[in-house]
Amino acid sequence: MAASLDVNGKTVSVEAEPDTPLLWVLRDELGLTGTKFGCGLAQCGACTVHVNGDPVRSCVTPIAALSGAKITTIEGLGGAHPLQQAWVRLDVPQCGYCQSGQIMSAAALLAATKSPSDEDIDAAMGGNICRCGAYQRIRAAIKEAATSAAAPVVAAPPVAKEAEVEAAVDEAISAASGATSRVQRGEVR
Ligand code: FES
Ligand code: FES
Repeated sequence: MAASLDVNGKTVSVEAEPDTPLLWVLRDELGLTGTKFGCGLAQCGACTVHVNGDPVRSCVTPIAALSGAKITTIEGLGGAHPLQQAWVRLDVPQCGYCQSGQIMSAAALLAATKSPSDEDIDAAMGGNICRCGAYQRIRAAIKEAATSAAAPVVAAPPVAKEAEVEAAVDEAISAASGATSRVQRGEVR
């Protein structure tokens, strides 16, 4: 049967039974495959998405429970979220399979707690399992994202104005041609 969902800011219509887990609708109906299937039992966190800003396990969340709810997946973070940038800078993933779930749990944590302590991180991330054991880098990236969220991520170098570049080129050509003339006149040996 048809159901309407709000996913990443868009209203979408899907063909699925009311007890279908959100995870399957996201992956199979909507092609949002960034959200992963791990255990299917709410035990690993690989399938974590946000529902109204809260982290939920989409593998055990039937779409019947989501009428009117705002669902956000890893694709909905847009790629430039401070966490995603910190993840890249610190090279957090190993195999990568758990990482979208890790980032979604961390994003919910930072939305609620701007400067999380180790205890805050443990409490928020404890249900997200990483078989590669990347926990130290995950913790470091969460802390880096927390401190960098308010600052520009990349400081662009100053760019010379076009007129300044042209003037510098003219000056260089002029100096070179002057030297050539002196050579031609035998003034330079
Ligand atoms: S796949 Fe949902 S918690 Fe593991
Ligand atoms: S990076 Fe491989 S399971 Fe976490």
